[in-house]
Amino acid sequence: MLHLTLQAKLHAAVRAALPDADTTAVLVRPCLDPRHGDYQSNALIGLAKQRKLNPRALAEQVKAALDVAELCDALDIAGPGFLNFRVRPAALAAVLQAEAAKEQPFVAKAAQPRTVVIDFSSPNVAKPMHVGHIRSTGIGDALQRVFRLLGHRVISDNHLGDWGTQFGKLLLGWKQILDRDALAREPIAELERLYKVINAECDANPARLEEAKQELVKLQAGDAENTAVWQEMIRVSQRQFDAVYGRLGVKFDHTLGESFYNPQLSAVVTDLLARGIARESEGAVGVFSDGSLPPKNDPFLVNRDGEWVADPALVRKSDGGFNYMTTDLATIDYRLKTWAPDEIIYVVDDRQAPHFRKLFLTFARWQADAAARVKLNHVGFGKILGEDGKPFKTRSGDTVKLEDLLNEAEERALAVVTEKNPDLSEAERREIARIVGLGAVKYADLLPNRQSDYQFSWDKMLALQGNTAPYLQYAYTRVRSIFRKSGANAETGARNAETALAAADELALAKHLMNFGLVLETVADECRPNFLCNYLYELAGLFARFYESCPVLKAEGTERATRLLLCDLTGRVLRQGLATLGIEVTEQM
Ligand code: ARG
Repeated sequence: MLHLTLQAKLHAAVRAALPDADTTAVLVRPCLDPRHGDYQSNALIGLAKQRKLNPRALAEQVKAALDVAELCDALDIAGPGFLNFRVRPAALAAVLQAEAAKEQPFVAKAAQPRTVVIDFSSPNVAKPMHVGHIRSTGIGDALQRVFRLLGHRVISDNHLGDWGTQFGKLLLGWKQILDRDALAREPIAELERLYKVINAECDANPARLEEAKQELVKLQAGDAENTAVWQEMIRVSQRQFDAVYGRLGVKFDHTLGESFYNPQLSAVVTDLLARGIARESEGAVGVFSDGSLPPKNDPFLVNRDGEWVADPALVRKSDGGFNYMTTDLATIDYRLKTWAPDEIIYVVDDRQAPHFRKLFLTFARWQADAAARVKLNHVGFGKILGEDGKPFKTRSGDTVKLEDLLNEAEERALAVVTEKNPDLSEAERREIARIVGLGAVKYADLLPNRQSDYQFSWDKMLALQGNTAPYLQYAYTRVRSIFRKSGANAETGARNAETALAAADELALAKHLMNFGLVLETVADECRPNFLCNYLYELAGLFARFYESCPVLKAEGTERATRLLLCDLTGRVLRQGLATLGIEVTEQM
C-alpha cells in the first residue's frame, strides 16, 4: 500500500537525519484536505520538539534524505513542519494494478495479530429476541468480521442468559399450564406466556411465589426432572435464536451460556472474601469502593441527595444465590485461562456501563497481573427510537420482535424491488428483497455513531438515495452491469493492460480506494463500524461522479483499461466492505 511504502522511506530518511530516532510513531496518512497533497506526515514536529530542534530545519534535512522521486511529483514542507506528498498518477496506477491482482485488494493483514474475544448478542432464554438485539448482534458481527479480515484471531462467544431466578416461575408454569401444541408452534412465545401468567399469580399470591421458589431451589440443587425441563427450555429457545442468526448470517465460535460458569461461582466469592476484596453486608456479599477514585468517577458510589453512599458490586445474595456480576467475573477468568486474549470486547447496551465499570475494576483488584495483560473493553450503544422520538414500539405499545421486524423489512423491500424491476420473476424479486431488506436494517443500525440513540425509519433506510444499504447495493449493481456489457474477461484484462490515470474523477476515485485498509484499521481500533459505512458511502459517491464524467465502455485502449480497472476495484471494495458489515450484494436490483 502506498502510504506504507512512503512511510518506510520516511523512516529511512528520519534515521539518516537522526540515527537514534524512534520511528514507531512516524506515520504517513492521507491528507484530509486534498489541496495540500495526497499523503501527509506531521511526526517531524513532535520529533523536533523532543530534541529542541527547529521543526522546519529538521523537515528540510529529512526531505533532502527522502528518496521518493519515483512515487511523488512533489514533496512540500508546510506550516510548522508538515511533510506533504503528492503522488504521481503512474505510481498510483501501478499500485491499483498490483492490488487488483490480490484476492483482497487494499487489505493489509495486521503485522501483529491479536487475540480478541468478542461477547455479543447474548439474548436471554425463554424471551424473544427483540429489536434491541439487532444492535449487539449487528455491531458485534461487524466487529468480528473486521478483526478477522485484518488477520486477528477472533473468538466470538454468545453469552446466553440461560440461568436466573425466572426459571422458578418458568418451571412451575411448564409443569402446570404448558400448552404442548403452542410450544411446538412458537416455543418462545409459549415460554413467555408461562412466565407472564405465573408471574402475575405470584404477585397476587405469596403461596404461589413460594411454590416457584421451591422449583428454583430444586433446579439449583440439580434435581433431575427440573434440570431436564430447564435444558429443554434452552433447546427450544436456541432453535429460535438460531433461526434468526441463520437469517442474519451471524455465526459464533462458542455459545457458553451463563450457566456454564455455575460450578465456579462459589469459589469466586470465597476467593474474593479471602483476599478482602469483597465483604459481607446485610447477609449479602459485595465489593465496595476502595477509595482510590474521586467519588464522581467511582462506580461503587452513588450520590443520594448530595451524599455519596455505597453502591457495591453484589456477588452473593442473602439467599445464597449468585449475581450477574459473579458470573461475569468467572467468565473473564475462564476466557483468560482458555484463550489468553489480548482484548475482550463486550458489545452491550450503554445502560450496562456501570456494571462493566464495576466488573473491570473488581477483576483488576482480584487478579492484577492477569488484568494488566488484557484490555477489557465495553463497546456500548444507544437506543432505537420510533419516529416519535420515544423508544421504538409496535402500534399496540409492545416491544418489536426481531423476527417480525426482519419479515417486514423483506416485505417492504419487495415493494421497492418490484417497482424498479417489474419484469423479474417473483422468486428473483424475493431473493433481491431479502438481501436489500436485511441489508437496509443492518446498515441503518451500523451507520450512526453507536453511542447515540437513533430513530428507526423504514422510508429512510430503504431509500435508494442517501447513505443507505440499498444505495450502496445499487452502486454495486451498476458496476456489475458494466461488466455484463463489456464482454468476457474484462476484469482480468484490465488488471494486466497498460493503464494511466488522467481525469480528476479517476484520480479522486483511485485515491479513495487506496484508503480502504486504513479505514478497516480505524474501525478495529475504535470498534466503530460507522467509519466503514461512511467510507463506502463516499466511495459510491466518487464512483457516481466518475461514471458520469468518464465513459467506460465507449472509451478505448489505455483509457478503457484504466476505467475498467477502477470499476473492478470499486465493485470489489464495495462488496468486501458490505460483507464486512454483514451485508450481501446482488448482481442486479
Ligand atoms: N444477557 C444479557 C442481557 O440481555 C447480556 C449479556 C452481555 N454479556 C455479558 N458478559 N454480561 O442483558
